[in-house]
Amino acid sequence: MAFIPLFFLAFLLQFCSSLSLFHHHPLDPLTPTELNQIKLIVDKSSIGSLPNLTYHFVDLEEPEKIDVLSWLSSKKTNKNAQFRRAKVVVRAGGETRELVVDLASGSIESNRVYTGHGYPPFTFNEFVKASRLPFQYPKFMKSIVNRGLNMSEVSCVPLTVGWYGEKVTKRTLRITCYYRGGSVNVYARPIEGISLFIDVDSMRITNYIDRFRVPVPKAEGTDFRSNKKIDPVTCNNATEKGFEIEGNNVKWGNWKFHVGFNARAGTVISTASIFDARMKKYRQVLYRGHVSETFVPYMDPESEWYFRTFMDIGEFGFGRSASTLQPLIDCPANAEYMDGYVAGADGQAMKMEKVICIFQRDAGDIAWRHAEINNPGTVIRSGQPEKTLVVRMIATVGNYDYVLDWEFKQFGTIKIGV
Ligand SMILES: *[C@@H]1O[C@H](CO)[C@@H](O)[C@H](O)[C@H]1NC(C)=O
Ligand SMILES: *[C@@H]1O[C@H](CO)[C@@H](O)[C@H](O)[C@H]1NC(C)=O
Ligand SMILES: *[C@@H]1O[C@H](CO)[C@@H](O)[C@H](O)[C@H]1NC(C)=O
Repeated sequence: MAFIPLFFLAFLLQFCSSLSLFHHHPLDPLTPTELNQIKLIVDKSSIGSLPNLTYHFVDLEEPEKIDVLSWLSSKKTNKNAQFRRAKVVVRAGGETRELVVDLASGSIESNRVYTGHGYPPFTFNEFVKASRLPFQYPKFMKSIVNRGLNMSEVSCVPLTVGWYGEKVTKRTLRITCYYRGGSVNVYARPIEGISLFIDVDSMRITNYIDRFRVPVPKAEGTDFRSNKKIDPVTCNNATEKGFEIEGNNVKWGNWKFHVGFNARAGTVISTASIFDARMKKYRQVLYRGHVSETFVPYMDPESEWYFRTFMDIGEFGFGRSASTLQPLIDCPANAEYMDGYVAGADGQAMKMEKVICIFQRDAGDIAWRHAEINNPGTVIRSGQPEKTLVVRMIATVGNYDYVLDWEFKQFGTIKIGV
């Protein structure tokens, strides 16, 4: 190892701790450094020499609840290296593998080929590559021309195909296409009747259907864009933040909790506790909470629609689909933002900017109030306006924007809204 002057090392340590290389909580999400380290460990192992290695999911391998709670109660502030393990799902050599990678030792602790039902989520690279295939496909180009449409104004979207109990041996996507032609609202103008089936491993079109023709809905009136001038409603005190944030730990009023982020669930709230003034200690309210799945079955029996039974979290991922939040539109002026990190198809860390915002809100409600008229000679009116703390993210999956709010209330309840 090269000689490093001491003062530089001291600076480096300080710099790194501010980049949260020191984890403040065992459930802290994987940092970009850790994600890249995981990629290195896997790439250098025997798995790295298998053909077509792609990363489909990388997340913290969750430590045992008992260990997390004992770490928290021991008030240790040291680096919790013993908890830094990752769960990694890759495809390599035509197989799915589930790995557990230990970051402290830099080794793969467990490596097993998955042979059960289903496949890991497609990578975004696979979606993008698949969406381009129709544009080189003569039969499709002919169908577009026959409909009197302009090929340069077509957008194609690969969809997952659902599962109906059959034995599935191939990773498949089904492509549907839309006509922009004068509109930016792509999903408003489907080109019905056309389906392309993609075998994702070979990235080839395996079947093409042009079953019927119906007119494309008109472009007029489909523009959804808002006026450029933002006129935010200010029912919040724009200068009052009202909470403290250190790493991923948030403290607000009598609450303290941890905000994580991963590719699948997006926001993960952990170890939420509220201070009980009577007992003079924190009471645990929620150990770990996140959305598990979002199921979107269209229930239309037509052959072009029946298969649309999306699992928007398992197949696409709220985290991977998290939208960069727009200050003053998605979150008020007093909001603070958090970035997220996920692994790309090559395993490299990818930054997702401003995916979570946290802000205190004047609820417009009364926290409590009372008027007492039975004291001689005096009327007492008292009370307090309600404030809440919101942790928000927005996942944009296809044509849907899921606004996901975790709202903490002063009285110990958490309200979840989608
Ligand atoms: C690797 O990818 C190429 C290109 O997509 C494909 O033709 C080949 O079959 C893949 N090999 C394996 C073992 O999956
Ligand atoms: C097709 O669309 C492209 C891109 O919008 C445009 O430049 C071109 O003129 C159009 N072609 C016809 C024949 O309308
Ligand atoms: C807004 O918050 C700041 C800081 O807490 C405070 O000084 C100010 O009085 C508040 N303004 C209003 C209108 O409540």
